[in-house]
Amino acid sequence: MSIPAQQPSLRWLAIGRVEDVPAQGARVVLTPDTAIAVFKTRDGRLFAIEDRCPHKGGPLSEGLVHGDCVVCPLHGLKIDLVKGSAIAPDEGSVKRYPIRQEGEQLFLGVAC
Ligand code: FES
Repeated sequence: MSIPAQQPSLRWLAIGRVEDVPAQGARVVLTPDTAIAVFKTRDGRLFAIEDRCPHKGGPLSEGLVHGDCVVCPLHGLKIDLVKGSAIAPDEGSVKRYPIRQEGEQLFLGVAC
């Protein structure tokens, strides 16, 4: 995912290297406001969403990644990583965050 670097309302946090995020897994980034789960799909795409299931707050970073989805480890709600929304018949959504890659370095965009 490529987001323009000049978005004035975003602050870009260095969060490590691409290899630090396991394929079909996640890494958690803690900010003063929230926990953000950074996922890598099997084909190497990266997504960042709030690490809190919209059902009952389960840790999405501990869920299984299938294709473009993560399955919450508590009760099985499926979240579309591209849209940040639950897949029907489930309901709800999570906040998404932009990720920027420069070489092997990853940056996470958070509001200023
Ligand atoms: S807390 Fe995620 S499905 Fe219930």
